[in-house]
Amino acid sequence: MENNTIGGYSMPRIGDSAPDFEAITTQGRLRFSDFGKNKWIVLFSHPADFTPVCTTEMSGFAKRKNEFEELNTERLGLSIDSVHAHLGWVNNVREKTGVYFDFPIIADIDMKVSKLYGMLQPNESETAAVRAVFFIDPKKKIRLIMYYPLNVGRNMNEILRVLKALQVSDKHKVAMPLDWKPGENVIVPPPKTLDEMNERLADETLEKVDFYLAEKALA
Ligand code: BEZ
Repeated sequence: MENNTIGGYSMPRIGDSAPDFEAITTQGRLRFSDFGKNKWIVLFSHPADFTPVCTTEMSGFAKRKNEFEELNTERLGLSIDSVHAHLGWVNNVREKTGVYFDFPIIADIDMKVSKLYGMLQPNESETAAVRAVFFIDPKKKIRLIMYYPLNVGRNMNEILRVLKALQVSDKHKVAMPLDWKPGENVIVPPPKTLDEMNERLADETLEKVDFYLAEKALA
């Protein structure tokens, strides 16, 4: 299926292949299709370097490095700033707070990647990317998208929660209920035929409300 376009800008959707691009980053030139091979990728944009909310968010992505690594996930930042601005900001935050943005940050000064990923939402800002997060699986398919406006920072616990939820869902072929957290019961997908329904009704191992709402603990 073709990629979606709104107002002349590409607007990738859940289930789409993540668009490929080449970009300059704080760690050199990057071709997206070669980045994070066999890994999950969290691609996130921030409106501008040297701004307060963005500094707290980027620091969050840096401080939770070990948790992203445990989830086999590469972090990749982006803003419509030059690489010189990125370097100055990374160094300034390290000097002032001791936090080092160790992941690559795309310098999207021509807005090419922002437009490709629907991060530039002109009714919010014509010059700054909104706060987007794309969760991309090892097959480079977009699995979940978050968009936040310029004035509200994201929630790092939620970012890590949904990343884990996607991975557990894939591994065990289950779904996650409201507010699911690692270790809690998961939803067994509902039956699609009468035979499956009858089997589900007879299954004593599940915690059931009825055949269509059944949970189980993961071993
Ligand atoms: C901030 O990160 O604080 C910010 C950036 C752009 C617009 C508004 C706030």
